[in-house]
Formats: sequence, structure tokens, C-alpha cells
Amino acid sequence: MRALPLGASASALPGSVADSPLAAAPPAATLWLRRLTLSRFRNLRQAELATDARPVVLTGPNGAGKTNLLEAISLLTPGRGLRRAPLAELETREPSNDPRAAGWAVAAELVTPQGGHSLGTGSEPGAAAGGGDKRLLRVDGERAASQQALGELLSAVWLTPQMDRLFLEGPSARRRFLDRLVYGFDPRHAGRLNAYDKALRERSRLLRAGNWDRIWVGSLEDTLAERAVAIAAARRAAVERLAGACAQSLGAFPRAGLGLVGDAETLLGDRPAVEVEGRLREILERQRGRDAELGGAGVGAHRADLSVSHLERGLPAGLCSTGEQKALLISIVLAHARLIALERGAAPLLLLDEVAAHLDEQRRRALFEELTALGAQSWLTGTEAALFEPLGEAAQRVQLRDGLLLAQA
Ligand SMILES: Nc1ncnc2c1ncn2[C@@H]1O[C@H](COP(=O)(O)OP(=O)(O)OP(=O)(O)O)[C@@H](O)[C@H]1O
Ligand SMILES: [Mg+2]
Repeated sequence: MRALPLGASASALPGSVADSPLAAAPPAATLWLRRLTLSRFRNLRQAELATDARPVVLTGPNGAGKTNLLEAISLLTPGRGLRRAPLAELETREPSNDPRAAGWAVAAELVTPQGGHSLGTGSEPGAAAGGGDKRLLRVDGERAASQQALGELLSAVWLTPQMDRLFLEGPSARRRFLDRLVYGFDPRHAGRLNAYDKALRERSRLLRAGNWDRIWVGSLEDTLAERAVAIAAARRAAVERLAGACAQSLGAFPRAGLGLVGDAETLLGDRPAVEVEGRLREILERQRGRDAELGGAGVGAHRADLSVSHLERGLPAGLCSTGEQKALLISIVLAHARLIALERGAAPLLLLDEVAAHLDEQRRRALFEELTALGAQSWLTGTEAALFEPLGEAAQRVQLRDGLLLAQA
């Protein structure tokens, strides 16, 4: 698809962009996608989208492919994307005219403060149907060995309707949310988490098998302890800075209080890293029998949690209303983006799926103003284009239908 014509001008409407802070020239994003190309990705069989640095509003009916498009972008960063879907699910199930067509691919031209780059990901050519569990990564035309290479260039944070339950369910989704925020501060965090998960899986496999080698299990526990401490240190540093930024937030979104709970995360509060590492190693060794029986490990980085509270109300997030919880999440994501923009010179891409529809009008306008002032290339989805009118020319618009990208008339 070509460069996008803007939507009908909202600036002609009374009380709209012409007399709102959105009318002032906003800072242009310094990290943004200039072109996105999708091939055989879910219902988006073939699509090319050229964008500028402004926020992108994606509208279309249910099932058009809006979330799919955000998911495709999320796969240009480390991890399993915003749905955490198995890779086999990503390849289109739509019939093709070309019997040899196979696999899926997402590619983008990226603009960063340091210059332009190309990123790509997709299924391995020649892999069995679905492409196994490893995706191919390309950076500037070269095959990249690890996802960290993506994280060093592109940082993205997302909010999806599924995350409305983030404060009501178990810690794993909150931990993933936290780790994604940490990637923004420290792209090496993704590599550490991968190495940690791999060692954890391998130790569990050996312990379950019963007949294991002490030296081998011991060396995996060394890796686990060392990585857990590095992961905890990165989380602590990020939460500390972010909590400061959240506490200072002003405006329509509530101030969030942040806390970090976890074995190494807590121990690091008053002990040096080497001591914490030694302690974790000791506990892991002592708990081998228990871990063999129950699976996983009773201690480590995979048990940490982010605690969030509504500062004004003095309530844990889980006790706030659905709308308040959503506003808290937005508040954290905005504070994070402001801080990363300040520290690293570019706000992350914000993928905000169905966020506008759940906000009252005042908060919706406040969100648009914040996003515009931030200078982030945020991607906003919704079924109703009218919701986004206050953004006027501060945003570009894309319509989707049945997996096809349409420019707005
Ligand atoms: N592998 C696949 N191949 C083909 N189509 C798929 C695949 N996976 C998902 N889809 C379809 O893609 C369509 C678009 O899904 P998506 O979640 O992006 O819609 P949406 O525009 O976000 O809709 P909503 O407004 O309901 O959230 C759905 O009809 C879904 O069933
Ligand atoms: Mg959707």
C-alpha cells in the first residue's frame, strides 16, 4: 500500500484539534517503521504499508486483521509476539493460487536515531509445515543468530484486551509485561532471559529423567544462579527508575506505584550479587529432589512478580475497577515511553490494541495528547474511525478489511 492519505480533517470540528494541544507541532518520532511488508501472515496474505513517523490509526470491522498486523510488528522484537502464539499458527490458512507457496514472513524498514535498518522474521524455508519452533531473523539483510539483534534496534511495548486481566491473574503475564519494559532500558535482558529459560528447561528435563549427572546439573545451576542475579538486577534498576517516573506522572491517568517481588530481586536489596548467586545455587542444589517431583524450580527469576498499586487511592491494582486498571496500565506504558525517550533518545513503538474504545472521552483525548507529545510511532486499533477524530492530522490512518489494507478515502 502507498503513502497514506489523511482522514477527513477533524480540525474543522468545534472544540477539536484546532484548539487542542494536538494542534501544536509535535516532536517527530525518532524510532519508527517506514515500511512494513507481510507475506502469508495469518489473514494478511500479502500487504505492504508505507508509514511516516506519526501515530498510525488502524480501523476495520471485527476480523479485519488489525490485531494480526500489530502481532506482526511485535514479532520484529525479541520474544513470541503479542499473542505468544505457536509459530505454526502464524502461516496463513487461506487457500493460495500458488501450490508452492509456503511459510510466512514479516519485514520492515526501520528508522532509528542512528540511521535506517531493515528487519525481517519468518518461518525457516524448507522447514516442516508450520516452521518448527524457531523463526528466522534477519537484520540488514544478514541472518541474525539471536533475537537480541532485533531488540538492539527496535523496542516495542503493547497493550491488548487480554491484558485487561493482568492484575487479576497469576504473575506470569505481569512478569512478561515487566520484562518487556526492561528490554527498553536494556536490550541484553532478552538474551539473559532466553539463556535462563533454556537452562531451566534442561535442568528440569535431566531431573525428571532421574538418572542425571551431578556435574552437568551443577553447571546448569551455576548458569541459573548467575543469570537469575543479572535478570533481577536489570529488573530492579528498571523498576526503580520507572517507579520514579510513574510517581511524577500528572494528568488524566492515575499515578501507579510499582514494586518488585522475587527471590533474587529481594535478596539483592541488601546483599552483594556474588552472595545472592551463591545462595541461589545452594537452594537449587538442595531442592533437586523437590524440583524433580514438582517440575521447574522452587526458586529463581521465573518466579518474580510486579506489584502495582493506585497511588492516589492507596489500593492494589487488583482491587481497582476495570477502567481504573486499564488507566493504570496506560499510565505505566506512557511513563515508560517518556523515560526511554529521555534516556535512549527514542520512545518505543506503542502497539495499543483496542485501547481507545474502553476509555471515556476525556481520557481518550488525554491519551491522544500524550501520544502526540511523546513523539512515538504508536499504532492504535479500533472498529470505529470516529473515536480517533480528535487526533486530526496528528495521526495517519489505515483501513483494513478481510486482510486487505485500504487507504482511507
Ligand atoms: N493462520 C491464519 N490464517 C488465516 N486467517 C487467520 C489465521 N489466524 C487468524 N486468522 C483470522 O484473521 C482474522 C483477523 O484476526 P484479527 O484478530 O487480526 O482481527 P481484528 O481486526 O483484530 O478483529 P477484532 O476487531 O475482532 O479484534 C480473523 O478472522 C482470524 O480468524
Ligand atoms: Mg483485534
